[in-house]
Amino acid sequence: MIAALPLNESDRLRALRDYDILDTLPEQEYQDIVQMAALICGTPIALVSLVDSNRQWFKAKVGLDAVETSRESAFCAHALLQPNELFIVPDATQDRRFADNPLVIGGPAINFYAGAPLKTPEGHVLGTLCVIDRRPRELDANQQEALYALSRQVMTQLDMRLKLVELERAQAQLQEVTAHLERIKEDERRRIAREIHDELGGVMTGIKSYLSHKIDSAHRNGETPDRHLLDANTLADTAIDTVRRVITDLRPSVLDQLGVWAALEWYAGEFEERTRLRCTVDIDPETAERALDAERSTALFRIVQETLTNVARHANATRVHMEARAAASAMVVTIQDDGRGIVPPELLKRDSWGIAGMYERVRYLGGALTITGSDGNGTLVTVRMPMEADHAA
Ligand SMILES: Nc1ncnc2c1ncn2[C@@H]1O[C@H](COP(=O)(O)OP(=O)(O)OP(=O)(O)O)[C@@H](O)[C@H]1O
Ligand SMILES: [Mg+2]
Repeated sequence: MIAALPLNESDRLRALRDYDILDTLPEQEYQDIVQMAALICGTPIALVSLVDSNRQWFKAKVGLDAVETSRESAFCAHALLQPNELFIVPDATQDRRFADNPLVIGGPAINFYAGAPLKTPEGHVLGTLCVIDRRPRELDANQQEALYALSRQVMTQLDMRLKLVELERAQAQLQEVTAHLERIKEDERRRIAREIHDELGGVMTGIKSYLSHKIDSAHRNGETPDRHLLDANTLADTAIDTVRRVITDLRPSVLDQLGVWAALEWYAGEFEERTRLRCTVDIDPETAERALDAERSTALFRIVQETLTNVARHANATRVHMEARAAASAMVVTIQDDGRGIVPPELLKRDSWGIAGMYERVRYLGGALTITGSDGNGTLVTVRMPMEADHAA
């Protein structure tokens, strides 16, 4: 006899799909549970059976070769209708619901069946943890209790898996959001840099040319230019320098115009000048030939920027060396300083965001970052990034 469908069958199937467990590979945790069930109940067969729309599929099994059977012949399909108790068939050959069941008449010749419901917190029964024998029999109270307890263990495993899937999904989503925010931030920096350049830069250049004109004509007339005029001219020079620096800090135009490798060389020079730390760069010619897309270029540039800033702020170093090498489908950039050497707890500082941001950027782009310090022998930062876009989603 074919089992009636549970009242909430479509919700139940949706719940089963959410667990994303059907057709997954065998796992030891579930295998251990069926082995224990068979041992405790003294049966040759034990299964974790999940009832899909038209089949029952076994996540774990002992004593049976089949991977799945049709739903029509599944004892477990009947067990779904008893969400709050064990479903026990002491002798299937004497039970009108099962006497003509192909699993009773033919292999595996089921005679005895006991299934404990795998019930979700919302009350949907996904299937059963069941034990099966080829002869009529019973389970004593302890065995029944144990089967129940083991079925709860199966649900605990399934719920943990669900939580893990949800966690991974949330993490991937968070990564997407972070990357999106980074893109917005870079676009915004680029826009502000352009605006400052066009608007403020234009005004400053105008002021400067008026002042220069006035000073020049005073000189031409053999007069000493007004002291305030000279002061204003010096201030205009300072302001123009500041505007230039702000624009470059926001988004170095060399990055957009000449690409990441030129930008890194430029930044190293600028860093050396600013910090008085010797900063050498070695980009192998093959790597220099390879163009990186805009997202990777920005990420790499920002990582190097943060790493060098850290060297200046924390390392107590005298020199730093950067290398870029192409390796198979990835490129590897290393930055080695000769400072005090970072120690592992510093990588986990809760109020620091620089290194955390570096990890995040690299992970999003499908690469890897390692940071190692050796006492008194400096810190080595290694960035490995795939050349092609293959986001770790
Ligand atoms: N090159 C380095 N040598 C030695 N210590 C380092 C080096 N780089 C980083 N550190 C240590 O690692 C810590 C974490 O660095 P991280 O860049 O994450 O944060 P931060 O620089 O302190 O602050 P911010 O969030 O502004 O970047 C630093 O505070 C420092 O103690
Ligand atoms: Mg930092």
